[in-house]
Amino acid sequence: MPEEAVTRRVRVGVVGVGKMGLSHLAIVRALKNVELVGVVDATDYLLDILNKYTGAATYSSLDKMLDEAKPEAILIATPTGSHAALVRSALEQGVHVFCEKPLTLTAVESAELTALAATKGLVAQVGYHNRFIATFQEVKRLLDLNAIGNVTHVLAEAYGPVVLKPKGSTWRSKRTTGGGCLYDYAAHPLDLVHWYLGTPQGVRGSVLNSIFSADTDDEVYSTLDYADGLSVQLSVNWSDESYRKMSTSMTVTGSQGRIVADRQEIRVYLRDGAAIPEGYRAGWNILYTTDLTEQVSFYLRGEEYSAQLEAFVAAVAAGEKEARQNSFASASETDRVIEWILQDAATGTATGAAPIAITTAPAQKRGLFGRGKRA
Ligand SMILES: NC(=O)c1ccc[n+]([C@@H]2O[C@H](COP(=O)([O-])OP(=O)(O)OC[C@H]3O[C@@H](n4cnc5c(N)ncnc54)[C@H](O)[C@@H]3O)[C@@H](O)[C@H]2O)c1
Repeated sequence: MPEEAVTRRVRVGVVGVGKMGLSHLAIVRALKNVELVGVVDATDYLLDILNKYTGAATYSSLDKMLDEAKPEAILIATPTGSHAALVRSALEQGVHVFCEKPLTLTAVESAELTALAATKGLVAQVGYHNRFIATFQEVKRLLDLNAIGNVTHVLAEAYGPVVLKPKGSTWRSKRTTGGGCLYDYAAHPLDLVHWYLGTPQGVRGSVLNSIFSADTDDEVYSTLDYADGLSVQLSVNWSDESYRKMSTSMTVTGSQGRIVADRQEIRVYLRDGAAIPEGYRAGWNILYTTDLTEQVSFYLRGEEYSAQLEAFVAAVAAGEKEARQNSFASASETDRVIEWILQDAATGTATGAAPIAITTAPAQKRGLFGRGKRA
């Protein structure tokens, strides 16, 4: 993304400075068009350390920061179960919001917050950073060009080593507070699927298994159905120690070819009869993320983390009234599909906006794939 001219500095506050919030904090402190006006966290010693070593103004609650520091925009990186209330408070006071994913734990709350942000004309963005990764952007570009013809199937995967043994209780270990592989991991590939294909008609065959977690899921499998027989297979496991860190990949099969993409590279097979995009040829093509990615103004962990915040701040600075990418409206659709998967895994019935015919009787399906904990 080309760097935009610095027109003015946006007054930004950061809410929640754990794993993700510290990363956001480091990035915004380095952005030329940001003035950091406050940091909020529920843990006092974190605030003390931050204040001591960075001089940042710290607050024990969002309301206090909104009253005293008067940010124009905030970044929320608190446990997912707390997003809805924090986002609502900020929007009601006319503050632009960047919120970590998933937006909330219910599709209804996400839709309400989407409507509130639209009524207030505020930039409201969610942290689905994969949409800022060049390889996944190239998949989107190729699909929009119809490069592989009619898409017939997508395999959406994510694996990583988050929970490798039974752990003590944190917000991540309970579904009620937003913990679990579905909310934490599967949300990412589901969001990419939504970006590429839109909202499915329904889901079926959903499996939410626990491997180590007592109160939530560690692996998620589901089938998402679209019109004309197009289906998506979702396969996600955050208790997989064969991966060093989270690895998300998309395999898209079409009538004229196939695309396999992850953060590192995109491999594209185009059949002879395909409409070959410029720079591609029939057969296999391999492009690496290093060749596709544009520089960001400050690098931390990966260009995508900076690029998403640059886009958010630039939209606020320019007086725009909606997010350039990852809008609340879009994230709400992902939350809707997450909710369907939860329902489907619990009841064994497919759900969706326009329910599809299922050939497997629910009772039998439950017997084969039903929810249930391994332990
Ligand atoms: N986009 C990504 O790749 C990615 C990666 C990790 C986490 N996340 C998301 O970021 C969010 C936070 O995850 P994390 O791993 O940073 O969690 P974390 O537990 O490391 O940090 C959460 C922080 O929020 C603070 N907090 C809790 N309630 C608060 C409140 N009401 N007000 C202010 N501070 C509060 C805690 O004290 C803690 O410092 C979650 O929604 C998660 O899904 C996204």
